[in-house]
Amino acid sequence: METPTMKPDTVLILDYGSQYTHLITRRIRSLNVFSLVISGTSSLKSITSYNPRVVILSGGPHSVHALDAPSFPDGFIEWAESNGVHVLGICYGLQLIVQKLGGVVVEGESKEYGKMEIEVKGKSEIFGSESGGEKQMVWMSHGDEAVKLPEGFEVVAQSAQGAVAALENRNKKIYGLQYHPEVTHSPKGMETLRHFLFDVCGVSADWKMEDLMEEEIKVINQTVASDEHVICALSGGVDSTVAATLVHKAIGDRLHCVFVDNGLLRYKEQERVMDTFEKDLHLPVTCVDASERFLSELKGVVDPETKRKIIGKEFINIFDQFAQELEKKYGKKPAFLVQGTLYPDVIESCPPPGTDRTHSHTIKSHHNVGGLPKDMKLKLIEPLKLLFKDEVRELGRILNVPVGFLKRHPFPGPGLAVRVLGDVTQGNALEVLRQVDEIFIQSIRDAGLYDSIWQAFAVFLPVRSVGVQGDKRTHSHVVALRAVTSQDGMTADWFNFEHKFLDDVSRKICNSVQGVNRVVQDITSKPPSTIEWE
Ligand code: XMP
Repeated sequence: METPTMKPDTVLILDYGSQYTHLITRRIRSLNVFSLVISGTSSLKSITSYNPRVVILSGGPHSVHALDAPSFPDGFIEWAESNGVHVLGICYGLQLIVQKLGGVVVEGESKEYGKMEIEVKGKSEIFGSESGGEKQMVWMSHGDEAVKLPEGFEVVAQSAQGAVAALENRNKKIYGLQYHPEVTHSPKGMETLRHFLFDVCGVSADWKMEDLMEEEIKVINQTVASDEHVICALSGGVDSTVAATLVHKAIGDRLHCVFVDNGLLRYKEQERVMDTFEKDLHLPVTCVDASERFLSELKGVVDPETKRKIIGKEFINIFDQFAQELEKKYGKKPAFLVQGTLYPDVIESCPPPGTDRTHSHTIKSHHNVGGLPKDMKLKLIEPLKLLFKDEVRELGRILNVPVGFLKRHPFPGPGLAVRVLGDVTQGNALEVLRQVDEIFIQSIRDAGLYDSIWQAFAVFLPVRSVGVQGDKRTHSHVVALRAVTSQDGMTADWFNFEHKFLDDVSRKICNSVQGVNRVVQDITSKPPSTIEWE
C-alpha cells in the first residue's frame, strides 16, 4: 500500500490474524508513533519499503506446526539485525521466532487462556531493570508453548504455571511476549509497550495528526494536476464530510460535491447538512433534489433487498448525470473521485488456514449503496485510508468540522427506506417516521444521552392496532424505538433507558404525531438481530 508518511519511526505490524492486531496499531498511534499493519506473509521487499524502526509480529489463531502456518519471509531476521531494527513477537509471533530460530515449540499440556499471573525475572530490557521479581496480571490466549529457546535467548518472565511468558535476545534486538500487552486485561501492558518503544527501541513520539494532514494535502496536490477536477458524493456522514473538507483544503473549488436528497432523509436533514457544508465548511456542494424520482421507483416495493438495489441504481444515475454536467461546464471530464474509505476497510488481513482465502485487501461491501459505472473511469482519492474512525474525528476537529457534526450517529445510505418496513410510499409513513424520530433524538439529546449511545432511531411498522385517544377509538400505527451501544456496529447491545425517559418519550410521540397510538422499544442485541430493522 502506498503511504505518504514513510517516516523513520514507523512501527510496522506483521499481521498473523489475531483479533487484537488492529488494537496494537491503535495503542501505538495513541503514543504518537506511526504504526501500520501489513500481512504477516508480505515479501521482504514490501517490509523493507516501509523502512520501519520496529517490526511487531502479531498473534494469530494458527499453530506454528500447521503445514500452512503463515510466517515472515526468509532473510527477515538477518535484515532486521543488520539494520538495527527491533523485532517484537506477541503470542503466535513469539512462537514463530522461537520455531524459526531453532528453538522448540510444543502443544502446551495445559492451555493458557484468560487472565494469568506472570513473574518478571531478574534483569530484562523489555520490562526495564527495575521490574525484576515483579508480579503482574496479563491476558493469555494460546495453546502452544515454547519449551526450548533458540541460542542467545533467555526467559525474562514466566507464568504461574511455569511457561515462558516473555523472552529476549538483547544482542539481536529480538523480544517476545507470550501474552497480549495491548488489551486492557493486561493492566501493565501499555506501560511495557511504552517502555519497549521509547526506552528500548529509542523511537520518538513525533507522529501528529497535523503532520498527516499536511502530508495528505501534499499528496493530493501532486496527484491532481492543476487543470483537473474531482467529485465527491456527500452523505451527510462524518467520513465523506471530513474527506471532502481535506480535499477542498488541498485543491479548492476544483472539488465538486453532490448531496442527493432521495426523499428518504430525516427531519430537516437536507437543510441541516447543507447548512454545515456551506456555512461552517464552505464546501462547494450541489444539492440534487431527487425525492420524486426515488419515491416513484420505490412505489409498491416491499422486499428490503429490492429497495436497496433500486436506491443504489438511482444514486448512480444521478452521480453519472452530475459528472456529465461538470464535463459540459468545464470542457473536461472529472478525473477523480473522493471516497471516505477508512483504514479498517483496507487493512490486509490474514485469514485462518484452510479457509481458501488469500491475503488480500478486504473491502467491506455489505453496506455500500452501490458501485460506480465502469465507464466513468474515475481514479480514487481516499485520504482517510490510513485512519481509524476516532482519528478521522480528530482530523475533522483540526479541519474545523463542528464537533457536534463529528459525533453524529451513523445513518444508513438507503436512509429511512430501511426504517419503514414494507412500502415506503404507503400513506404518510415517511412523514410520521420523521416526526417520531425527531422527538426521540431530541429527547435523547435533552437527557444528555446522545454521546453515550452509538446509534438511535425510530422505525415505522406497517401494522395498525386499536387505541383510545380522547374519547375516540383509534386504529393507528405502531412505531418502534431502537437505541444501541456498540464499538463498531458489528455487534451491539440495546441501550437501557430509565423508565421515566421512556414514559415521557412515548407520551410526547402519541400526543403530537398524528397516526401513532402505540410505541414499543426494541430490546434485542445484535446478534441475533441487526441494528436496522429492514
Ligand atoms: P446493521 O443493521 O446491519 O447495521 O446491524 C450496522 C450499521 O451499518 C449501518 N447501515 C448502513 N450504512 N449503508 C450505510 O451507509 C447501508 O446500506 C447500511 N445498512 C446499515 C447501520 O445504520 C448501522 O450503523
